[in-house]
Amino acid sequence: MSHRILFVCLGNICRSPSAEAVVRTRAEARGMALELDSAGTGRWHIGEPPYAAMQQAARLRGYDLSALRARQVTPRDFSRFDLIVAMDGQNLQDLRDIAPVTGGAELCLMTDYAPSLGTDEVPDPYYTGDFEGTLDLIERCAEGLLDQL
Ligand code: 4NP
Repeated sequence: MSHRILFVCLGNICRSPSAEAVVRTRAEARGMALELDSAGTGRWHIGEPPYAAMQQAARLRGYDLSALRARQVTPRDFSRFDLIVAMDGQNLQDLRDIAPVTGGAELCLMTDYAPSLGTDEVPDPYYTGDFEGTLDLIERCAEGLLDQL
């Protein structure tokens, strides 16, 4: 069972904090107790709250990102979590590069949980500006993830 789940993107200010908040909100609605966190592969935004436009779009859907602060993923996360969910293929590769040789968290892509959508990444809204599309995709994947736990 995967009850400790870490969501990982590049900056930890858009996609992974959103995934953390969406899954937390929807898990609570289902009465599921999960330990959730998010982190970035990069270090540029360590200590910062989620990107303002991302927070605003999420807030309008009922997800509060305001208390979250960016941190960088570390090799220790592979023992602290059962499952690490990457937002895109580059995140997944960067995670594999720091993963322990044996054991530790299972690694997967967020889009693995919505196979019918036929996409293999959550596009980065920091670059696309499409915060609504990001949330639409994250919500679909979040339901698929919770269905599998
Ligand atoms: P995220 O988006 O990976 O979804 O948090 C990004 C935000 C900022 C940067 C990269 C990605 N950045 O390079 O500053």
